[in-house]
Amino acid sequence: MDSPHKTKSLSTSLFFLFILLSTNLLTLFLSSTFNASSCSFNPTIPPTTTTTKDNQYPSPKSPDVSTEATNNLDLSPEFLAFTSGQLLPFGVNINFDSDTIYPPVGKACTQFPKELNTFMSYKVNGSCPDDELLAQKLLLKGCEPLPRRRCRPAAPSKYVEPYPLPTSLWTTPSDNSIVWTAYTCKNYDCLVNRKYREKGFSDCKDCFDLQGAEKSRWTSSKGGGVDFSIDEVLATKKPGTIRIGLDIGGGVATFAIRMMKRNITIVTTSMNLNGPFNNFIASRGVVPLYISISQRLPFFDNTLDIVHSMHVLSNWIPTTLMHFLMFDIYRVLRPGGLFWLDHFFCVEEQFEQVYKPLIESIGFKKLKWVVGKKLDRGPERREMYLSALLEKPLNNSW
Ligand SMILES: *[C@@H]1O[C@H](CO)[C@@H](O)[C@H](O)[C@H]1NC(C)=O
Ligand SMILES: *[C@@H]1O[C@H](CO)[C@@H](O)[C@H](O)[C@H]1NC(C)=O
Ligand SMILES: *[C@@H]1O[C@H](CO)[C@@H](O)[C@H](O)[C@H]1NC(C)=O
Repeated sequence: MDSPHKTKSLSTSLFFLFILLSTNLLTLFLSSTFNASSCSFNPTIPPTTTTTKDNQYPSPKSPDVSTEATNNLDLSPEFLAFTSGQLLPFGVNINFDSDTIYPPVGKACTQFPKELNTFMSYKVNGSCPDDELLAQKLLLKGCEPLPRRRCRPAAPSKYVEPYPLPTSLWTTPSDNSIVWTAYTCKNYDCLVNRKYREKGFSDCKDCFDLQGAEKSRWTSSKGGGVDFSIDEVLATKKPGTIRIGLDIGGGVATFAIRMMKRNITIVTTSMNLNGPFNNFIASRGVVPLYISISQRLPFFDNTLDIVHSMHVLSNWIPTTLMHFLMFDIYRVLRPGGLFWLDHFFCVEEQFEQVYKPLIESIGFKKLKWVVGKKLDRGPERREMYLSALLEKPLNNSW
């Protein structure tokens, strides 16, 4: 935790990461990737060289499942059963232009054979192991999508159903709706109060307290700064034309809940980083989507009215991945759709050299573009936020 040196050094990347975490931001992915440490942050992502060193297990003989059945003797039978080509019962399907279907898994799965085999070892037709943490680590380092399994997931023995709407929106759900094994906290009281009781960092540490900071997020703009309000954002479009969208890394989905009140349907992506974020979002009554920022967004081109993301897209993400991600957001937005990039965090040099040109190159029109200094850790760190409201052009967006 020294002062930052050169912007591009590895230690600095980790340092920024630490800042990000220690300031309670809504970052996804971090607690797991933090453990995986150094190699995960190599910005050029050459998959074969970085992961094997970092990985405590020997690299698999054949990292490529698509070359089917050659060198995958050390992969578990259930994994092979799932990923092997399977003949379509009615022969060639003209939509597929094939008579075979290959159920997909993340390309990186086979680079982690030991964890993968542990994940795929279970009693077929029986109960799955209680292994959420293993599954999420595998997913976060690139085994995404995870392979399907033929077993029943761990669940509380006496599940308590959610509260009815609208009570569910702002009420902490029952502890008996959660399998707590993967988390430090073992009940909601612990999660709600961890900002007072716990010293270290956790992602979205104060988010489970619905009476705390969540209560007022996005309700008012603070005088032209980086905090836009939902209403000022919606006011940039004709009333009623923003109807469906996505919140990337949306914490406990308070954004979706505020939008629901305005008859706007938002799907929220979240990881379960030391907390049952997905279950909590679902208990509140909005849709959680369990995908990382690495995965292609599961929406068709030119379809969504709005994409929002707060505190997640920032300098912990390898630049090439960020570039692909920004284009993917552009892809799923419809012409005239809005991308609300909320509190993008970096340091000023990075912003000028990397992120500003990157964001400007995608093709969005700028409706709002506010840069604010982040001074809480001292101006010499030159930390900053960008909040931007970007619009996909209505005409000639291709
Ligand atoms: C990080 O690693 C430590 C020690 O290996 C382990 O006990 C802990 O559960 C890990 N935390 C996460 C979030 O993976
Ligand atoms: C699982 O169930 C299916 C369908 O009943 C059956 O064909 C299969 O033999 C079962 N497998 C095992 C390992 O029990
Ligand atoms: C949401 O939809 C309901 C039912 O169509 C309508 O009565 C209500 O006025 C709408 N609310 C807003 C904020 O548009």
